Amino acid sequence: MTTLLVTGGAGFIGSNLVRMVAATGQYRLVVLDALTYAGNLQNLEGVIDGHRVIFVHGSITDAELLSKLFADHTIDAVLHLAAESHVDRSIASAAPFVETNVTGTLRLLEAARAASVRRFVHVSTDEVYGTLGPEDPAFTEETPLQPNSPYSASKAASDLLVRAFVHTYGMDCVTTRCSNNYGPYQFPEKLIPLMTLNALEGKPLPVYGDGRQVRDWLHVEDHCRGIMLSLERGRAGEVYNFGGFGERFNIDIVRGILEATGADASLIRHVTDRPGHDRRYAIDPRKATSELGWHPVHSVEKGLADTIAWYKENAAWCENVRSGAYLDYYAKHYGTSL
Ligand code: NAD
Ligand code: TYD
Repeated sequence: MTTLLVTGGAGFIGSNLVRMVAATGQYRLVVLDALTYAGNLQNLEGVIDGHRVIFVHGSITDAELLSKLFADHTIDAVLHLAAESHVDRSIASAAPFVETNVTGTLRLLEAARAASVRRFVHVSTDEVYGTLGPEDPAFTEETPLQPNSPYSASKAASDLLVRAFVHTYGMDCVTTRCSNNYGPYQFPEKLIPLMTLNALEGKPLPVYGDGRQVRDWLHVEDHCRGIMLSLERGRAGEVYNFGGFGERFNIDIVRGILEATGADASLIRHVTDRPGHDRRYAIDPRKATSELGWHPVHSVEKGLADTIAWYKENAAWCENVRSGAYLDYYAKHYGTSL
């Protein structure tokens, strides 16, 4: 059976991906995660079985650990999702983003190359393309890279390293760039889970600036299907964009959350805008549709309603995340403290 290494598999998208792939029974999965504040092993509860789905605690920056991991587990392909992922944190402190997203990706590429893996799927973001005006056409794979935040700059740097490994060493890599994801298990520092939990708790909803920035919302399950299609059908060396045809103003997303939770509009607070805030992202996913047969199946309205319902129904998960108790999950289940 083919063995996949999933980096960042305890995070939001990674854990949704591991759950989806594990349910098919088609692959053996080795999950590598450093369990930073964003990693939550509770996201994989009932999935890690030590046999078909194995968890390894460690960092993609640790070259020694990586070479042992590739040798011990005979990895066939890599799905690389581990990253520092939050723009606001990158504005507060850029160095961890360079360390994980750039140095970590380089170490992982080196280890994967040394182990002659068959394919390396690098999960990136539409934010590497920069920002759009209201009438600009959506990003294609040919759009120049013009990252504006330390986060997107570090992701663009990692994309360029992947490109260099393809061209210099003939490595088989595929890069995916997707728009803003939403869905279950997202850490509540990102817009949708933050606003949902605040609305449910009657706390203020901090909308940056005028709230008329546009994001193209993609349900995490649609993204995960895109990652697997890139693995299975993507052409070596290519980039594929994934978007949800879900462009919405932030303020409209927030109003939708107020409506679905029954919270009062007076909770909205327009706060100081994010420095260098990208105004609009939009993805043209036609290449993924024509080459991979991919298209998103979740509409934003239904997907958002389902997501809000998930947060309501999973109060224990929300409470563990909000209180920080989730950070002890590893010690409780694996016997050592982090
Ligand atoms: P996340 O922050 O929820 O999860 C990241 C995971 O990586 C966490 O489990 C964390 O513990 C782990 N990690 C961090 N540093 C590590 C290291 N040095 N070694 C090993 N593991 C480490 O992020 P996410 O939202 O799930 O994003 C996953 C990937 O998708 C990222 O590469 C991100 O750039 C990309 N992406 C995300 C979105 C989005 O909307 N969330 C959109 C486009 C692209
Ligand atoms: P976010 O979820 O952080 O994703 P990204 O910055 O990667 O797009 O933010 C989505 C949008 O929501 C972005 O335009 C910033 C805005 N935002 C707020 O207005 N208030 C908030 O508290 C947060 C976290 C984000």
